[in-house]
Amino acid sequence: MHKMLFHLPARLETERLVLRPYQAGDGEVYYHLCQNNKKHLLPFEAGNPALAVNTLDDAEILVREYAADWAARNIFFMGAWEKATQALVAQVVVMVINWNLPEFAVGYFVDKDHQGKGFITEGVKAALRFSFECLKAQRVRLECNEINVRSSRVAERCGFVREGFLRQTHSHVRRADGSFSGDYLYGMLRAEYETLYGSLSAEA
Ligand SMILES: CC(C)(COP(=O)(O)OP(=O)(O)OC[C@H]1O[C@@H](n2cnc3c(N)ncnc32)[C@H](O)[C@@H]1OP(=O)(O)O)[C@@H](O)C(=O)NCCC(=O)NCCS
Repeated sequence: MHKMLFHLPARLETERLVLRPYQAGDGEVYYHLCQNNKKHLLPFEAGNPALAVNTLDDAEILVREYAADWAARNIFFMGAWEKATQALVAQVVVMVINWNLPEFAVGYFVDKDHQGKGFITEGVKAALRFSFECLKAQRVRLECNEINVRSSRVAERCGFVREGFLRQTHSHVRRADGSFSGDYLYGMLRAEYETLYGSLSAEA
């Protein structure tokens, strides 16, 4: 199916979160998320555009670019708002690997003050639902640095299977012996999603 023909929900709800695409006007709250998390993101998210946000305008431009990317179905950035407080507590992204299979990849970060509460596990499960149910994924992948134990735990808690190891992918994240670290590659197949999370509807 052509990517423009998929029906995309305006928001995804979990027990404690609302996940939705960014929209014009989210810049101010996004600016504070970025400012609060630069050190937190540096080790394992060195390429995250949030690190380049230095002003309110930078943040507003970025959320509008994310909104445009969502509309064009190029990449799906979602903010995760905590229902109880209305605070923006995390970001989850679904990246396109291959529309023909289709295959997607999930990425994420949580605000450092909201780490250890299970928000990412909840958000990744929503991203899996979005990928398998809305985008008809055949498989979803997740890559994380071997030293990023918290992230590996997210993958395993959500039911991803460790499929491989990409060696020496990071010069700026070193092992204890000084050598370059690598990335674990995790994957989840459509059939595995159904086993873990329930059957997909006939047209899904
Ligand atoms: C990787 C990262 C997202 C993990 O965040 P996290 O808060 O540990 O992940 P979760 O939101 O799933 O929370 C899980 C933790 O909350 C605890 N928790 C508390 N309440 C919970 C609940 N209701 N449900 C599930 N877990 C809960 C779990 O026990 C778990 O703690 P543990 O790992 O010490 O056992 C975070 O460390 C981060 O943002 N790092 C920087 C960016 C980054 O590395 N991104 C990933 C690149 S691949």
